Amino acid sequence: MEKKKETKEQKTVKEPKAAKEEKTAKGSNAAFARYEKIRKNKEIRGLIQRGNEVLGALGYTEHSEKHAAKVADTAGKLLKELGATDRETELAMIAGYMHDIGNSVNRHDHAHSGAILAYEILKKEGIDLADAMTVMTAIGHHDESTGTAVDPVSAALILADKTDVRRNRVRNKNRASFDAHDRVNYAVLSAKLSVRKDKKIIQMDMELDDSMCTVMDYFEIFLERMIMCRRAAEVLGCRFRLEANGSRVC
Ligand SMILES: [Fe+2]
Ligand SMILES: [Fe+2]
Repeated sequence: MEKKKETKEQKTVKEPKAAKEEKTAKGSNAAFARYEKIRKNKEIRGLIQRGNEVLGALGYTEHSEKHAAKVADTAGKLLKELGATDRETELAMIAGYMHDIGNSVNRHDHAHSGAILAYEILKKEGIDLADAMTVMTAIGHHDESTGTAVDPVSAALILADKTDVRRNRVRNKNRASFDAHDRVNYAVLSAKLSVRKDKKIIQMDMELDDSMCTVMDYFEIFLERMIMCRRAAEVLGCRFRLEANGSRVC
């Protein structure tokens, strides 16, 4: 029943609400015009929707434009706070928005198929080739099964993507049939990524409903992702810190 409802909702490509409402890393700077154009690109938005439908059919959490926009925004803010150039910040935002389009092809190897799709689309959009390659590399390295941070843009994408854990990404409405991923995602009441520039720390603060999931449960599911975040923070010259319910975990 749930899957049918989502498919119907996803038939219309809607104006991304998050684009209007969120305070993004870019402010009103014209230097981010390419990102604005990417956000309006119908082909990209269609691929994100298709990927989300595919993952819905496979029982995965929400990977809609909301996830794409949130990852773009977090990645951009992270690099901006660390003093990156507008150009690099914008590339992290573009990579963040496009990072999951490969799910439209297949969940398996979606980082790689998405990277190739993104490179072709960005070339068609007239994006500078070196910039298109930077985005391609970041997307191609965002999945923990094969990827790791290799430069600041890929590092920002990884940190933004792996920390977008929240209750409303769980699509299964039947709590009795939650799998381990549903349970852990559902238990996350809030998750926020911030930079403590003076101490060179990138910190994830998480509020967990510990009646549903302990910190150990969280690590059991997300250990690889947290290790990936640690490496990504190092590439950005920082240490990764995770606090859950006010206590330092790592
Ligand atoms: Fe992904
Ligand atoms: Fe993602």
